[in-house]
Amino acid sequence: MRVAVIGSGHVGLTTGVCLAFCDHDTTVIDVDQSRIERLKGGQLPFFEAELGELLERARPCIHFTTDFAAATEADVCLIAVPSPTASGGGVDLSFLRSAIDSLGRVLADRRSTQPMLIVNKCTVPVGTAAMASEWLRTCLTVSAEPQGTSTASPPLFTISSAPEFLREGLAVRDTLYPDRLVFGVNSGRDEEVLRELYRPILEGSFPPLGSSSGLPTAVPGLVVTSVATAELIKYAANTFLATKLSFINEIASLSSALGTDIQSIAEGIGLDHRIGRDFLSAGIGWGGSCLGKDILALVETAREYGLPTPLLQSTMEVNEGQRGIVVRLLQEELRILKGSRIGLLGLAFKPGTDDLRDAPSLEIAGRLLSLGATVCGYDPVVQAVPLQGLELRPSAAAVAAGADALVLVTEWDEFRSISWQDLAATMRRHIFIDGRNMLQPSVLRAAGFCYRGIGG
Ligand code: UDX
Repeated sequence: MRVAVIGSGHVGLTTGVCLAFCDHDTTVIDVDQSRIERLKGGQLPFFEAELGELLERARPCIHFTTDFAAATEADVCLIAVPSPTASGGGVDLSFLRSAIDSLGRVLADRRSTQPMLIVNKCTVPVGTAAMASEWLRTCLTVSAEPQGTSTASPPLFTISSAPEFLREGLAVRDTLYPDRLVFGVNSGRDEEVLRELYRPILEGSFPPLGSSSGLPTAVPGLVVTSVATAELIKYAANTFLATKLSFINEIASLSSALGTDIQSIAEGIGLDHRIGRDFLSAGIGWGGSCLGKDILALVETAREYGLPTPLLQSTMEVNEGQRGIVVRLLQEELRILKGSRIGLLGLAFKPGTDDLRDAPSLEIAGRLLSLGATVCGYDPVVQAVPLQGLELRPSAAAVAAGADALVLVTEWDEFRSISWQDLAATMRRHIFIDGRNMLQPSVLRAAGFCYRGIGG
């Protein structure tokens, strides 16, 4: 199929590369000229495991451009542009509006007799696809008839929703081996086009990846539903995950007070298949570009309908509180933070990415700085930080040198093989806060540290 993807962020680029890898003739369009130039040269604009290698393999089927006219003859046009939180708490749809306007300027030139299927992949409030359809109609110089009605001249486009559930750091695997696909469609024809687009993924018939370790063997589930339902599914999925995390973090605080073991509690409840072990790792709370933004958006939607959302509000409050736990533990151990030196191990909001959006590291560092501590940090992939006063160091050892305390913020694998004894030898005092409960307390204690985890 001929596929256009508007937007070359995490979702757009990963989806575009994976669809090209599945042999679809794919064009990725972005307004950012320098990003497109770099992509043409094979350079990724962000760190994402396996994506660079897949881009090389998909080269014959993928093109990059800033010219929206390239989308004109596509069978399917996916839109994957940012949908950040708006200043008033809702969702900023300006990127989507601008993508639709750009498409509207070229779509009238379409020669194909088949309508283009526009697939929204952005996380947007319920009803946005219908609204985008109206925007596009008003943009077009030749009018397209409303979807689903029989007309003399066929419509130029139809709009559907196929929300994206990929995780940063695992984006390629989540795209090619999703647990499920959700198609929100207005007609049987739209469903057929989406089935054709996703056939290689639904059937697992794309070429093998380099490493097959840990790959799921089950075929993805498929939910075909209305466009509005698909839009709500995305929010419900992310807010459920966030709620699961805040649940275990609340239990972790209780566990900490009682002196019980949160890891065993997670195992003990997670082995119940109705609950599941994933998203039960207690720690300093979630970050990233999605969970917090999506929960805010869903609360806003409920507010528009006059519906209270006490569960979602509490989910957010618990998460905000988690970041403060690190500061409280440091105050308990160091007593006076003014004049202390704290080293952060890991800065990205989770391992496998260089993304600092809503990263707990920045908030923790900001609070410590405002309390008079000196703060430095090391991350294997983050190269710059948007926080004045937080000094980047080139290694964990450099962060430890002269420090009073270390805080493990991101559970990068390389932290498992550090010689903690060597690091301890260079430190002024030996406090270790494991914000992700990643390391064995006994190992840290044997190296001379006072070890504090979350909920332990
Ligand atoms: C999330 C959703 O998982 C994905 O389906 C959606 O499409 C986009 O949003 P992502 O933001 O990439 O993906 O991160 P995710 O892997 O979900 O982790 C979110 C946060 O939760 C991270 O900060 C992570 O460290 C934290 N987390 C996750 C925990 O604290 N404990 C856990 O057990 C799992």
